[in-house]
Amino acid sequence: MLRFVRRAAHAVILFGFAAAAPAYAHETLKLDAPKPLLAPTPPMGWNSWNKYGCDIDEALVRRQADAMAASGMKDAGYQYIVIDDCWQKSRDADGNIVADPERFPSGIKALADYVHSKGLKFGLYSDAGVLTCGGRPGSAGYEFQDARQYAKWGVDYLKYDWCYTGTRDAEAAYTLMAKALRESGRDIVLSICEWGDNHPERWAQPVGHLWRTTGDIFDAWEGRKDYSLGMVNILDLQVERWRHSGPNAWNDPDMLEVGNGGMTTTEYESHFSLWAMLAAPLIAGNDLSAMDADTLRILTNTDVIAVDQDPLGQQARRIWKQDDLEIWARPLKGGEHAVVLFNRGEAPAEMKVDWDQLNLPAGLTANVKDLWSKKVSENVRGSYGGTVAPHGVIMVRITPVL
Ligand code: GLA
Repeated sequence: MLRFVRRAAHAVILFGFAAAAPAYAHETLKLDAPKPLLAPTPPMGWNSWNKYGCDIDEALVRRQADAMAASGMKDAGYQYIVIDDCWQKSRDADGNIVADPERFPSGIKALADYVHSKGLKFGLYSDAGVLTCGGRPGSAGYEFQDARQYAKWGVDYLKYDWCYTGTRDAEAAYTLMAKALRESGRDIVLSICEWGDNHPERWAQPVGHLWRTTGDIFDAWEGRKDYSLGMVNILDLQVERWRHSGPNAWNDPDMLEVGNGGMTTTEYESHFSLWAMLAAPLIAGNDLSAMDADTLRILTNTDVIAVDQDPLGQQARRIWKQDDLEIWARPLKGGEHAVVLFNRGEAPAEMKVDWDQLNLPAGLTANVKDLWSKKVSENVRGSYGGTVAPHGVIMVRITPVL
């Protein structure tokens, strides 16, 4: 609904400013430079949107950078601090994008420097339309100027959205920004955010490092709010996507809601486990400066993160489903496997995975580590299972004994 409203609003804007709207006839361009290898494994970081929306300022961003560095998040692999929508205010007389001077009085360069001083990387948000989704100036017609500005500021990551784009062609628009970033003189990750509406699997691989596959997540186990979906609804839309993901080119099922309060601890463990199985970018969306013990424990579970970051980069497939019970599996580098037994139902369930479901010989002996309880079962033969809590998972790493 909201997206419909945005699109309708965009039509009005295009109509109103028809003479000023940029011409896109040149958008058949080709990329000269290859995509830089900036995301051999899925990017990990923090983004302001899920918890704060437009209510952001430089003190908040510094606080999140401090917390990422001090809490154990950085040690667990989180790296990017990304400011989402609403940092922008206007353009100056030369067309340069201007940050909101009240909320970011020190300017974006100072903030990027601060984030870098913590040993972290810095990201910003823009939009391929005339306005961002939050109604701030977009980058349409300013791609090269904006990319040069980002490079000067020290931006390492750009999330590039799709509101107010009218009849623009998505492949062309994202290719244009990719070209601008590659010519900017700085390595900048391109996070494509067109919600999977324009078949990014057909064209995004040479263009961006990650691309959204759906509309927005919201902090709920299940459901729909405007054009946002609950966690399991987003999950269901990933099932057929595994073919199109791999190193430096990741499907993005949207950012994490762990710690934002709308799900139970068990549900957040499932959310985090499943996103790791999907080789999803792990972009925390909570307040890193005020995490309770469970939130920190979930977000810094290094065994689960190691599955997400596995260098083979193979997104999990749902290999079995019966009513509320599902098995997701992904092969890992070196012949290991990660498996999630997922119980979407309201009662505990006995579940198991058989080796032959993983294309392993039934007689194979394996060591199995439960990645949440940390229990290791040695010399397991044929299958592994247990009782899975309602809305919970058993997540394991299976290491064949050779
Ligand atoms: C869109 C994106 C979100 C967020 C908002 C900001 O909805 O999908 O992730 O960036 O815009 O306005």
